[in-house]
Amino acid sequence: MGKEMKPNDQLEPTVFVIFGGAGDLTWRKLIPALFDLSQDRSLPAQFAIIAVDRIKFGDEALRHRLHDGVNQFSRFGKAKAAAWNQFAQHIHYQQGDFKKLPTYTTLGKQCAKLEKEWGTKAHRIFYMATPPSMFGEIPKYLGKAGLARDRKWARIVIEKPIGYDLESARALNAVLAASFEESQIFRIDHYLGKETVQNILAFRFANPLFEPIWNRRYIDYVTITVAETVGVEHRGGYYDHAGALRDMVQNHLMQLLCLVAMEPMVSFEADEIRNKKVDVLHAIRAIQLDAISQCAVRGQYGSGHTAGKKMPGYREEDGVSPDSQTETFVALKLFIDNWRWQDVPFYLRTGKRLPQQVSEISIQFRAVPHQSFPPEASLGWQPSRLVLSIQPEEGIVLGFQAKYPGPKMQLRPVDMRFNYRESFAAPSPDAYETLLWDVMKNDATLFMRADQVEAAWQLLMPVLNGWQATPPGDFPNYSAGTWGPEDAQGLLAHGHRWPLPTELAAPYRTKGKKSGLKMK
Ligand code: BG6
Repeated sequence: MGKEMKPNDQLEPTVFVIFGGAGDLTWRKLIPALFDLSQDRSLPAQFAIIAVDRIKFGDEALRHRLHDGVNQFSRFGKAKAAAWNQFAQHIHYQQGDFKKLPTYTTLGKQCAKLEKEWGTKAHRIFYMATPPSMFGEIPKYLGKAGLARDRKWARIVIEKPIGYDLESARALNAVLAASFEESQIFRIDHYLGKETVQNILAFRFANPLFEPIWNRRYIDYVTITVAETVGVEHRGGYYDHAGALRDMVQNHLMQLLCLVAMEPMVSFEADEIRNKKVDVLHAIRAIQLDAISQCAVRGQYGSGHTAGKKMPGYREEDGVSPDSQTETFVALKLFIDNWRWQDVPFYLRTGKRLPQQVSEISIQFRAVPHQSFPPEASLGWQPSRLVLSIQPEEGIVLGFQAKYPGPKMQLRPVDMRFNYRESFAAPSPDAYETLLWDVMKNDATLFMRADQVEAAWQLLMPVLNGWQATPPGDFPNYSAGTWGPEDAQGLLAHGHRWPLPTELAAPYRTKGKKSGLKMK
């Protein structure tokens, strides 16, 4: 590391190998995150990045390209020349075919050379930032080249999608397990790196206030919304073979569900927390093949308007088949069969080209058991609701009833708000910064374990199979810029609603609005 750079003393020497080092993920996410860590004193003193890819590139050409990515995506804005130059010295390029053993033997020699230079053993992190078709190959070769052998010093990182269905996920986990032990495998779901997602645990288990009422006795239903305004952008080719259930629900939404529904952990050990999450997945009531329409709704956007701009329909996007049957919207109704949650519906929905980009969890509490106020006092009365707002606003809002000022007893809904930006001076790191730092620290808490991935697939297989067997007759069934197909309303039990996004900063941002909590 360069002289002026401020290394982190807690981290041991590390070689960070990126397969797919010339690709989009490296450019857009990994290098900006590593660069930002370097600016925050969060890289080890002895550190090197080896980018491996098939195309011909020199060190300088690659650094130039990665510099451009950092300028666009770093949390700190455009990189200062001196800071970039120092960081860039640590990036090396190795051309190689991922399916040829010499790529790996050369890599092994390169790692050994760095260790010799540093006079110490180094952690070797192998990050697969490649197309998923390589996920089954690279671990095999790492194994053959002897690079996976050292249980403490070698780690492999894999991004979702982990498989395409239960069977392929099992097969992929088996390939990984043939060369690496589970403790060496880091499966990334970037939602787990988000501050607000991690805060769910802090909120629930660092405060005695809510846990006693976090159950079927007080909670009526839960909704989890992950809405995007974007379409499939440049990823039509991938997305058209995946769809929203595989792309978002199997991983990100299931993770959120687990964090909301899990039992308190006994310690902060990675496996203790992961065990509690897997317990939730195992307790979710199985979806019956003949009852899919009662618990799952799919949609695909047609053309429409987002923020006043005309948007094409999904079938007109690049890389998408003009008669595609792929879903860009999913809504699910799930039940968790255990003492805490019996009969409390969990409604999940996610979609592309929805009207607003928002990820929120809404906990709707039950009504008071007896309404003792006169009927005229409670016009517009709403039961309490807690919203965990994940993005773009980051915070928590609790909506409850208060007395409206005046001689008469009149109740009105009001909000109590916690907003990250206002409460903490420290900015939130990008999810990838958190996750890459954890990989370097060898802390697997925020990563998915094989059994968790498989349990999530297992739960969703009836829906995937059922949908495949019965193609949708009505696609596209929602317009870009709307909240998805009408049928998503039909999933809700009587009196339940999909909430409109909470305006976390409403009193500061939107003048004259009374409450941030609204129902559709
Ligand atoms: C990815 C999906 O995992 O998550 C994308 O593949 C999606 O389709 C993205 O857009 C959403 O992530 P975020 O962090 O923007 O909510």
